[in-house]
Amino acid sequence: MEQTFLMIKPDGVQRGLIGEIVSRLEKKGLKLSAAKFMVIDRALAERHYAEHEGKPFYPPLIDFITSGPVFAMVWSGDQVIELTRALIGKTDALAAAPGTIRSDFAVHTNFNLIHGSDSLENAQREISLFFRPEELVEYEHTMQRWI
Ligand code: PPS
Repeated sequence: MEQTFLMIKPDGVQRGLIGEIVSRLEKKGLKLSAAKFMVIDRALAERHYAEHEGKPFYPPLIDFITSGPVFAMVWSGDQVIELTRALIGKTDALAAAPGTIRSDFAVHTNFNLIHGSDSLENAQREISLFFRPEELVEYEHTMQRWI
């Protein structure tokens, strides 16, 4: 089963959207494997977003992601990377399809509520940045029988 790294950003936490976002993922049938409420330091933020270093949005992105607590998560399920990217919607809230998290709740690209890994390689890299292997919880998820 595939795993992905999702992170509700400081704007999502401060706007009280953790429950709404987690609820959407649960209702879809995805399985929560790990979660951590934390403030990211700059070193971790820079490692997480290393591929974007040098881009114009990189400095404000690092400032933003370290500005308050985030809710870091690992979710599991078949095709979970592609599925969660679809549920989240495009980076730019204006371009995000109606019904996606970003279309429904975000206004600006700068404050787009949630991060989701974009590939298997990045998912594995990001999970290992934020979680130790023993923090991933194995349990039976009844939805798996039906979906
Ligand atoms: S790229 O260049 O196409 O790979 O960039 P993109 O995938 O669109 O975005 C990479 C991450 O940077 C965030 N982003 C921004 N943050 C702040 N301001 C601006 N203008 C901006 N543009 C992009 C974007 O949300 C991505 O972060 P994550 O956490 O992956 O969503």
